[in-house]
Order: sequence, then C-alpha cells, then structure tokens
Amino acid sequence: MKSYSTMKKHYKEDPWRIIEEGFYPEMQKSSESIFSLGNGRMGQRANFEENYSGPTLQGNYVAGVYYPDKTRVGWWKNGYPEYFAKVLNAANWIGIVPILKDEELDLAKCEVSNFRRELNMKEGYLSRSFEATMQNGVSIKVEAIRFLSMVDDETAAIRYKVTPLNYSGKVKFRCFIDGDIINQDSNYDEKFWSEVEKETENDEAYLTLKTKKLDFHVCTGQKVYAYKNGERVSFDSNQLERRKYVENLVTIPAEEGDELVVYKYAVNVASINHSKRELKSRAEEAVYMSAEKGFDQMFENHKAAWARKWEMNDITIEGDVAAQQAIRFNIFQLNQTYTGEDPKLNIGPKGFTGEKYGGGTYWDTEAYCLPFYMLTAGSHVAKNLLLYRYRQLDKAIENAQKLGFDKGAALYPMVTMNGEECHNEWEITFEEIHRNGAIAFAIYNYINHTGDESYLKEGGLEVLIAISRFWAQRVNWSTHREKYVMLGVTGPNEYENNVNNNWYTNYIARWTLTYTIEAIAKVKDDANFWSDFSAKTNFDVAGETQLWNKIVEQIYFPKKENSNLFLQQDGFLDKVDITVKELDPSQRPINQKWSWDRILRSIFIKQADVLQGMYFFEKDFSEEVIRENFDYYEPRTVHESSLSPCVHVVLASKLGMEEKAYEMYLRTARLDLDDYNHEADEGLHITSMAGTWMAVVEGFGGKRITDGRLSFNPSIPKGWESYSFNLVYRESIIRITVNSENIELRNLSDGEIEILVYGKAYAVKGKLNISR
Ligand code: BGC
Repeated sequence: MKSYSTMKKHYKEDPWRIIEEGFYPEMQKSSESIFSLGNGRMGQRANFEENYSGPTLQGNYVAGVYYPDKTRVGWWKNGYPEYFAKVLNAANWIGIVPILKDEELDLAKCEVSNFRRELNMKEGYLSRSFEATMQNGVSIKVEAIRFLSMVDDETAAIRYKVTPLNYSGKVKFRCFIDGDIINQDSNYDEKFWSEVEKETENDEAYLTLKTKKLDFHVCTGQKVYAYKNGERVSFDSNQLERRKYVENLVTIPAEEGDELVVYKYAVNVASINHSKRELKSRAEEAVYMSAEKGFDQMFENHKAAWARKWEMNDITIEGDVAAQQAIRFNIFQLNQTYTGEDPKLNIGPKGFTGEKYGGGTYWDTEAYCLPFYMLTAGSHVAKNLLLYRYRQLDKAIENAQKLGFDKGAALYPMVTMNGEECHNEWEITFEEIHRNGAIAFAIYNYINHTGDESYLKEGGLEVLIAISRFWAQRVNWSTHREKYVMLGVTGPNEYENNVNNNWYTNYIARWTLTYTIEAIAKVKDDANFWSDFSAKTNFDVAGETQLWNKIVEQIYFPKKENSNLFLQQDGFLDKVDITVKELDPSQRPINQKWSWDRILRSIFIKQADVLQGMYFFEKDFSEEVIRENFDYYEPRTVHESSLSPCVHVVLASKLGMEEKAYEMYLRTARLDLDDYNHEADEGLHITSMAGTWMAVVEGFGGKRITDGRLSFNPSIPKGWESYSFNLVYRESIIRITVNSENIELRNLSDGEIEILVYGKAYAVKGKLNISR
C-alpha cells in the first residue's frame, strides 16, 4: 500500500471544491461517482449532458423508487430471499447534445482540451468546461453548470453554454429525456421501466414511466429556454417522441464567437409522494415554477439552503487542506443523500452515486449513520430512522418465522427496502445476524444522547423484546462447554463465513438481553402501558427474562488463554499468522486479487469486528484490554470495507496512538477521493462517510456521553493548526474548537450546560476557553 503522501492525487486539493483538470477517459467512471449530485429526493452521477460513447455508468435515481429484481442463484434453498431490490436507474433527464454541421458532440470522439470540472461543495453545484474539436473540424467551447435544488427537491436546473470557435451556421441542441434505461446490475438483463404517457410541446416535454413490478410511477419533465449573447431567442423546436423518449430539438443560427446558452429546468415527481393521477400536472406545475423563478433565482435559493446546512454541519480543519477537503466531501455527500425529513426513506451504502448494494438499507444506518444525523440535524431525524425499523417489525418477525424462529422473535433483514429481506449474496449476508444487535444498539444510542426515554414506550421496547427473543432462540446450550454458544454466523468481518462463536455477535447479543431487561424495568411501573404492551406482545416477563438472565450469565466468549485477547471466533488462532505489512502490496486489495477460498482461510480481516465491539461497548473494557486487542487486530486488518478505518480512528485516538489515528483518518476521509480500495467507479461509500464524521468528533474530539453529560477528550493530529465542529446536544448547540494549546467551547444556545473536558466539569454559557 502506498502511503498517502506518495499516492497519485487525481483531484486537486482545495478546502471547498473538488477539481479535476484534464480529460481522463480512464477515470471517467470514478469521476462520475465523485462529482455526483443529490438532494435527498433524487440524485445522479456526474454523467455528461452530451453524448459519451466511452466507458460510463449512466445513473439517475429517485429516492424510494425500487424494483424487486428476481434473485439469481444456482441451487435454490429454503430461506433465500425471493428478490434483490434495487433503487432503479431512472430516466436520464440531463440530456443536451449540441449538434454542429450534422455531428453530435461526443467527447470520446473529439480532441479535448482545457477540460475542467468542479464540484462546489459550499454552494452545491457541478460545473464543467472544455474545448473540443469534432471529427468534422468544428471547434467549440462548452461551459455547463447544474444543481439539484435543495429547496424544491423535485426540481433541478442546467445552464449549458456553447461558443462555436471556428464555425458560423446553425447550432442545434437535442434536449431530451430518455427512459430507455438499463440497470447495470440487473440480474437477468431485463429493463425495469415501461411507458405510461408522454407529451412534447415547443419548449417542454414530459415522460411518465412505471416500474414493471410494484407500479411506481415517475413523471420526468423538462422546459427549455435559449439565449444568444445574453438575449432570449425564441425557437420553433422539432419535437420527437419515440418509445420511452421525448425530445425538443432547438436550432439557433450563430456566428463564430457567439455565446449560445440553453437552460433546462427539469423535474422528477414520483408516485410515492403524489397520487398517480396528478403526476403529470404536478410535474408541469413544478417545471413552470422553476422557469418562472429562473435559473439565477433558483440557484441563489439553492446556495442559501446549502449555506444553512453548512452553518450547522461544517467541520473546519486549519493547516491540512487534504483533510479539510475530505471531511467536507464526506459531509457534503451525506447531506446530498439523506435529509431526514421523509420517514419513508433511508440511507443506501452508495446513496445516489451507483448501483452496488441496490440502494437498500443495511446495518450501516444504525451502526454508522445515526450519530451524524442525530448530532447535526437533530433528534427528530434520528427518531425517523428508528421508526423506520419499528414500522418494519412485523416483517422482521415474519422473516424470522421463515427461518424457523417463533414466539415473536424478529430478525431484521441485512438488506431491505420495505422490511423484507432482499440481499443478493446468500453465503455472506445471510448469516450476518449481528445486524439485529446494531438495531437494538441504535435505540440505546438515541436515548443516551437525547434523554428521550419515552421512545421505549413508542416502539423501542417492542423492537428490543423481539430482538432479544431472537437471540434467546438463536443460541444453544453446549453440554460440552457448559455454556451458551452461537453457531453458524458471519460477523462484521465478511472474510470469514459460517463461523462459531463470533465474539462480536455473542457480545452484542448478550448486551441486547441486558439492555432489554433494564428497559423493561424503566417502563413496567406504568400499569396501563404495561398491561396493553404485554397483551400485544404476548410477553411472559418472568419466564422470558429468567432465560435471558441465564444466557447473559452463561454465554461463551472465545479468548486466548492467559491474555486479554478476545478471539474473533472459535479456531481463530489456527490461522497462519502474518500481518498486512508482510503482504505483497501487489496482492491488495485481496478481494480483487485472491480466490474466495484463500480469503476465507487467511487471517486477514476485512473490517473491525472484535474492535467494533470495543468501540460500541468501550465502557466495558479497560484501556489495557482495548490496547491489547487493537495491537493484535489492526495489523491483521486490510480495511477493505469502507466501514473499518473510522472505528480504528476512534480507538487509536483513545489509546493516544496519534499517527495511527491520522493514517486511518485519511483512509476513511479520502477513501473515495484517493480510491484506496480501487472501486470508486462503482459509486461512493456514503454510509462510511458518516463514520468519517465520527472519526473527527468521537476520535480526535473524543466526544462521549458520560453519566448523561456531554464530554470531550480532544487530541489534535500533528500538522493541524486547529479544528472545530458543532453538535446538537439535548437543548443546546455546542461548538468546540481545538488547537494545540486551547479548547474553546461555545454554547450557541441560551442557558447553561455542564460539559466535561478531560474529565473535569465546566458550566458553559456563551464562550469558555480551557488550556490543554
Ligand atoms: C460491509 C458490510 C456493509 C456493506 C454495505 C460490506 O462491504 O462488509 O458491513 O454493511 O458493505 O456497506
């Protein structure tokens, strides 16, 4: 592995922007991911507006619109999910193709110079400029800007400017919406959309498509305006309609050097938010409203919305541009993916930037994303995430029943859209039952931060009991060990499948049982609630908790004798013991170089597993124990899951391992920008971006909740002059700034709050400076 300083950096470093200079077709797919745009309601990869016949992954996605693609397996077995759901690649609405002297612009067929693209994270837009000489000798300059409105989240706008450099004559613009879309990850190469209706007028076009299953409808619309040298140009467009395609062909006569600008206002309205009957009229209304506001006004409103987001969300890092750019990139993408306002939605591992993982909900949401949204957007957003799972409890119970569990036990799916299990990878994902634990942990995490214990009665306890019932049935008594054991699981480390007694899974199972028993004690005295609740859940409190207590006392944990080292699973010490340092760098990432057989046998760990447990349950372990486990596991971890390095930053910071913490920080924060795992072309690692935020806040900032109080234990990486971030904690908004000498706390709300810094309590009202 190359160290960060020797790695080739494709994108220029800048605190607020991602910049690519030069045209690199081999990087196009990665750059399409990196420069992606989204607004929580829809998103898209940074595909070109014009044609591009080089390697590309065309991607437009509408939140919540998915397709249950039939599972593809060799031999079917009971318990396989029926389908693998995917948030669909939807109609391509960005199309604007300049045509000069009968040739359509296609950068794969041109000589391209001065290519530059920029993602402006502060203001939330993508811009691109270049000069191109086409095969017919015509040279043009193009400057394009687009954004997906953060204000009216069904709308977007593009300004596309063309200047002919050596040509006078007609310039045509083919402005289209193309619904004849393929999903790259379709299991049977099927197309998932069929046409409902379409309509084109002189400067408008609408296309309504529906999914072949589940009957989601989406109407995509466009309205086009043209300008020459700043003056509005009227036109009689040629309108073309064919199957799943609508077009306005706009012709503008031009002289060499004229600036021709096409504005395209686009909308996507979906039946998950509107009635099907009203889709088209809603789309028209949204397109007219955009056009009436105009590009500039829409853009100003959009920028103002981003400014408000940044005011709360920004993390500043002085003295290290690479680190600053990276954290903003992570925060930017998180805000583009999920705004938390719609309880129907959740956070797919790739957001709207690619097709891998199908846009489904994973344990990533509870284990990694919840803290970011809870502490920046507020507790209602975190609660929406919890309620999402509560609403799917019936399906989780059904899912457990399918696998042979009963009496109200719930197994939440590893991948889901609507509560049903829909993963695509039987051998790994199926046994990752640890996800159930993360869902329980999120309830604790939410209550611990917000103090909102009433959530237990609003759904939290029902979920906890159903998960505890699952664990109680999933373990079995081993007469050999005289302990409860858990067999045939896969831990977070997916480079081991079907293992016995995965330490992490056993630990989180035991923790869930304990926490559920504590939670019962908190609500049981409310007699009305309790009698309704026990009847609804058919809960035998004495009998069930007696068994749970027994399991808590007698569950088995694999551990190396005479040491503090917890073993990832039974038999772990039989492996050939080498460290990642001894691995030939040409063999990495091993998931692209080695057979699966070799990976499973090897000692190399994909992502934090024992250490994931120490991260969640840090209070249960002394520093000495955490250190011993960190020192053993980290050197054997290849971090080929994006979710791995962030956990290591938090633990390394706690252990005072500053260099390791910083190395891991760059790895999590710049994972996609520097493409550590050689897969940015597939889309960005959105859920791990929340882990990056955690790395700064909980890692360097050392933020914890200690006995109900906000506490910090800040450290600062060498080379950083300072860093700062904001947090919502209960009724207060707190800003902390750390430099090598001082810690400044600001209470941005009225009132006073007690905060612990390095274990000492301070009453914070207004501003307070503390020496380090
Ligand atoms: C990780 C899982 C994760 C999934 C989606 C996998 O590579 O190993 O833990 O849930 O990606 O992010």
